[in-house]
Amino acid sequence: FRTQVGVVGAGPAGLVLALLLQQAGISCIVLERHTREYVETRARAGFLEHRIVEFLRRNGFAKGLDLHGVQHTTCEFRLEGRQYIVPYGEMSGCAHTVYPQQFVVSDLIELFMTRGGTILFSHPVVKIEGLKDDKAVIHCQSQSLLEHSAAEKQVECDFVAGCDGFHGITRASIPSDHFSTVTRQYGIGWLALLAEVPASTERVIYALHESGFAGQMPRTPQVTRYYLECSPLDKQSDWPEERIWSELRKRMAVDGQGDDEQIPGKIIERRVLEMRSVVTETMQYGKLFLAGDAAHIITPVGAKGMNLAIADSEFLAEAFITYYREGDGTQLSKYTEMRLPHVWQTIEFSDWMLRLIHNLDESGNRTFSDRLRRARLERLCGQGDYAQSFAVNYVGK
Ligand code: APR
Repeated sequence: FRTQVGVVGAGPAGLVLALLLQQAGISCIVLERHTREYVETRARAGFLEHRIVEFLRRNGFAKGLDLHGVQHTTCEFRLEGRQYIVPYGEMSGCAHTVYPQQFVVSDLIELFMTRGGTILFSHPVVKIEGLKDDKAVIHCQSQSLLEHSAAEKQVECDFVAGCDGFHGITRASIPSDHFSTVTRQYGIGWLALLAEVPASTERVIYALHESGFAGQMPRTPQVTRYYLECSPLDKQSDWPEERIWSELRKRMAVDGQGDDEQIPGKIIERRVLEMRSVVTETMQYGKLFLAGDAAHIITPVGAKGMNLAIADSEFLAEAFITYYREGDGTQLSKYTEMRLPHVWQTIEFSDWMLRLIHNLDESGNRTFSDRLRRARLERLCGQGDYAQSFAVNYVGK
């Protein structure tokens, strides 16, 4: 194979990039290690920022989310039985759209392939060569069931877009002496659950409790995501169903509403996530450009991961288009420099919000950090600049 841009990974970052390149008449091939069915059913994020929805609409990529997405304009914090409702939609004039990531992925795949795009599913990339040469070469293995043995294929390209998530291969192709990452591990875990049960309210709930944070995020009318703060070392077996529902009830309790707000349902996914953010400060090397989780992972607090991935691809596509149309590689050469400030702004917001919903005891004084977050919550529920700034950042105006 020979193409202009070889895209590794068919997640939101890779697919948005591929569609934008296709629209601009730039050839690209997407290589994905998993099957189409796997990537179209893998449940992950689900909150789309206002500006990302606008971007998807402008490009004609939003048909599915306009039909099936649900708009959110308020979120709720809970503390000791009290409810604090933040009308961020009213304050910012914008809304979130809840539309599960696997549906976003499925819509983008359908669009790209209908328009004649090539995605090689079940083709894990195993090696990348020539990143500093005229042509880069991507080596992948065909694992198609039709081809009985795993055959190696090569894709020759001008550029490689590394959109292969945090555990992908592209970032690892950067030599270690050119590579720098900055990491924060918060020492906190979240038990992430997906349950077949309607959410108790239509809005997102962040419950602050002395036993730890609990969250409820509606996904579809029948499926809800729940989070329970736990130790990052906890195992799934530490959390039998009974314990899960009883902790959710306790941490999310509201005065005068009794205990039965959380109706138990079938748990369809249960895993422990470690709260951490990692930023690769080398987003490009030679002919390689990293986008999305391949370049940075951000804690789920504030729901920014998928949005940041799509925003990277929007910028990267523009840089490729300028290069191919006008022969001007300035934007490409400044990719890292231009994207990193935005990445860090997003990480900063997620870090601020993480400190609001967890009692992050860095000073060794839990009471002090608890009082600080209460003060933050009170300000957030006022009408001043503080609340306004939260609204705009949270909704992604
Ligand atoms: N070869 C080919 N494909 C690969 C390889 C490889 N060696 N390694 C990984 N991939 C694929 C994965 O199978 C996956 O489909 O790359 C894709 C990366 O997609 P995502 O992990 O969804 O990453 P990204 O597109 O950056 O989107 C980030 O995903 O994790 C969530 O919360 C995060 O919402 C954010 C979003």
